[in-house]
Amino acid sequence: MGASEATVVASAPGKCILFGEHAVVYGQPAVAVAIEQRLTVSLAPAPSWSVDGSALNAAKHPHIVHLRNRFLGEDASPMAVHIQGDIPRASGLGSSASLSAAIGAAMAHLRKADAPMTNDELSEAAHAAEAAAQLGRASPMDTSTSVEGGVVVLSDQREEVGEWAYSRTLTTPEGERRWEVHRIDPPGDDVYLVLGNTGVHAPTSKQVAMVAQALASNPERMREIQAIGTVARRGLAALVSGDYEAVGHAMSENHLLLRGLGVSSDALEELIQAALPTSLGVKLTGGGGGGCMVALTRHPKHTSEAIELAGGRTLVSKLGNEGVRLELH
Ligand code: MEV
Repeated sequence: MGASEATVVASAPGKCILFGEHAVVYGQPAVAVAIEQRLTVSLAPAPSWSVDGSALNAAKHPHIVHLRNRFLGEDASPMAVHIQGDIPRASGLGSSASLSAAIGAAMAHLRKADAPMTNDELSEAAHAAEAAAQLGRASPMDTSTSVEGGVVVLSDQREEVGEWAYSRTLTTPEGERRWEVHRIDPPGDDVYLVLGNTGVHAPTSKQVAMVAQALASNPERMREIQAIGTVARRGLAALVSGDYEAVGHAMSENHLLLRGLGVSSDALEELIQAALPTSLGVKLTGGGGGGCMVALTRHPKHTSEAIELAGGRTLVSKLGNEGVRLELH
């Protein structure tokens, strides 16, 4: 049986940004961790292309169409795509990047089962799909974290931490961007992430475009982006030395800067206030405007309860989990 006649299953984790969202689009350093929550996709031969029973549609499924055209070609034998998992959609936890990583891995396997893709190639393809869906403005933060797993650092320069993995470039409406992607392995500790979901869907593309608009109308505000970079660098140093109290401080400081940038919301602020007393640090995570906040805590049960009492839905994760993987084929 040829590879294209078999069912392929792949999964990839979501991500949580500890420092530097939005500023990373402009080259500032940022740190993200792969979370325990994952999406699993299966691709099975079918009479026509579909996603969870609906016809594949470029407007509704831009990442899937992009990756299908790239790996298999527009005329490829049709497949039924099924997606399942526990990453809430449009909530700042990288569900679209996780989908791109998992679909990309499955399609790359279908194309050439005997020559698996490298993480570098797969994260490049997933980033291109993400950028196409985000109006040309997307850092490789989400896609590299879903592909690599663990803890990932991005910057416009090679950092003296961890292990450098590869460079990524993108032509954005604001010009050429280049990011250096690194993996780090922070010392373990008994700390958890509690993710509090406001339940408000906030598309990343809209949030990123809003920041771009604010910077275009007042270029002075680039200072706020640079300040986020300074805090991210401090948070990164704390993380690699295992000083989780300082990591928490930097997260809370990062949040104040994001709030100043206009990407928080009343619902996020309520969950953040609720989590503060039992946490080392709290901030919004991802694009903001809704979606999720994250608390770094040694008391995940207490922190979750406080967030839920304030109306949020919670997920708990350890820091750093396995990246993309083929499940069975
Ligand atoms: C979204 O998870 C993170 C942002 O920084 C956008 C990006 O990096 O592409 C808001």
